Amino acid sequence: MSLAKQSRGIEASRELQLELVGYIVGESRPYRAEIVAFRPLMMGEYLYMEYYGYRVLAMVSSSITGSNVINNNLVDPRDIERLVKNIRVGEKIYYYRGTIKILGSINGDGDKLYIPPIPPPPGSEVYKAPKSILSSIFSPEKDMYIRIGTLLREPDVEVRVNINRVVSRHLGILAMTGMGKSNLVALLAKRIAEIGGTIIIFDYHGEYRFLKSRYLNVIKPKLDPWRLDLEEIARLLNIPRNATRQRMVLHECLESIGNTGNVSFFDGLKRCIQTRIGKYGISAQKVLDALIAYEGYLKRFLEEGIGDVIDKIVLGYINVVDLSEIHVHQADAIISHWLERLLEGRKIGVWSNGSKGIPTPIIVVIEEAHVFIPTDEDSATKRSASSIAREGRKFGIGLVVVSQRPRGLDPTILSQLGNLAILRIVHPEDQAYVAKYCEPITQDLLDELPGLNIGEAILLGEWVSIPTITKIDLVEEKVSGFDIDAVSIWRKSF
Ligand SMILES: Nc1ncnc2c1ncn2[C@@H]1O[C@H](COP(=O)(O)OP(=O)(O)OP(=O)(O)O)[C@@H](O)[C@H]1O
Ligand SMILES: [Mg+2]
Repeated sequence: MSLAKQSRGIEASRELQLELVGYIVGESRPYRAEIVAFRPLMMGEYLYMEYYGYRVLAMVSSSITGSNVINNNLVDPRDIERLVKNIRVGEKIYYYRGTIKILGSINGDGDKLYIPPIPPPPGSEVYKAPKSILSSIFSPEKDMYIRIGTLLREPDVEVRVNINRVVSRHLGILAMTGMGKSNLVALLAKRIAEIGGTIIIFDYHGEYRFLKSRYLNVIKPKLDPWRLDLEEIARLLNIPRNATRQRMVLHECLESIGNTGNVSFFDGLKRCIQTRIGKYGISAQKVLDALIAYEGYLKRFLEEGIGDVIDKIVLGYINVVDLSEIHVHQADAIISHWLERLLEGRKIGVWSNGSKGIPTPIIVVIEEAHVFIPTDEDSATKRSASSIAREGRKFGIGLVVVSQRPRGLDPTILSQLGNLAILRIVHPEDQAYVAKYCEPITQDLLDELPGLNIGEAILLGEWVSIPTITKIDLVEEKVSGFDIDAVSIWRKSF
């Protein structure tokens, strides 16, 4: 390392008025080192070092307080009592040691931190990371960054995330129930709409209809049957994939009735199928029976003449598709249809340079994703969500997958999520599943998961420079996630 570089480093530390915390001791590695400190080290605390021209951010990953005087050779508590009484006030009888994880060098201008190839030499000074450095890493002042909270251990430092990366690399929000997933969705939605972004939330619990935002557009969960394709109708009528003749009947009739406006969808279809009984026999009869049996159920969410779902979107708004009164199978059909249309709309938008289709990028949120994108079952949404996970990047559709049961989520989609917000997870199977399929997570971060409280999230992936534990801002009006106080309700009605 050149002298010039070294002196620049020292100047930097003078300018920063650093608080010395301790020194590197023993053997260190490029990514880990031991420290002896003047004071107790706080887990997760950020530290700063300069060595070989690198300006490095580190984090306390283990903290030990010990004493050579009150050590574990003492077997009689009365000895300890005497010792404690006789130790002069202020005498230092403790030592503070710890392990630090080196997070990376902050020299580069890029968004990401890189671990220097050389370990910190023993004797290197270790400082408390100053706010200015933490802010430069966690709160970049660039257009694509939005605030979602503060550093858990440094509440003065804002945490901002790169929303461009959410659009291009998707996001998984995973945690046990009640830990703050939907709050984070609400927060992201509000912030994204404030910068003119478009977000579409499939709201299975009716939680987002009441968000306080000038930019809220609640959409009824209706589909126009004339706009469904053969596959979608066959699925709704429970016609298996291998029932070729039944599918042929349906195909012929969908082709022949056409949307002329003279006949209703269901009547037209029924009449047509009846005419095919001669040709297809029992197969046509089965389709007809299914249509008659399911008609009432289907009419609850199929409405003729309502048009294309993508015409219901308001650009620059939080678009909430309210699925709260919809059965799970209907919701699956609705979400899947929407996803197909959104991807199609964005493709046309990109190819036509914004003159047709959906002209600007969008973010799509699927709540209860383990229900709609399950591991071992087939669902309509699973197929359309896979297309978005695969192709969304090229066409500017970011997929946000929200789940309280990560181990129930399709692994292919899970492994395509380039960004994660993981709140508290204690179930070992969920942890193991996340570790297996989510590339950005490491064991030491997994170990943190059970210790998180409500609203505390580990952010990982491309939307942050380095993994960070964040206290997510609370969206005050998003009240419907509160646990119900059953006892007080019962007492009042008693
Ligand atoms: N960042 C936060 N700060 C403080 N409190 C929070 C935060 N996030 C959530 N909470 C509290 O936790 C409650 C539940 O949050 P939320 O509905 O977001 O959880 P969830 O993970 O979506 O739960 P579910 O799995 O049931 O959907 C909220 O009503 C709120 O009281
Ligand atoms: Mg929720």
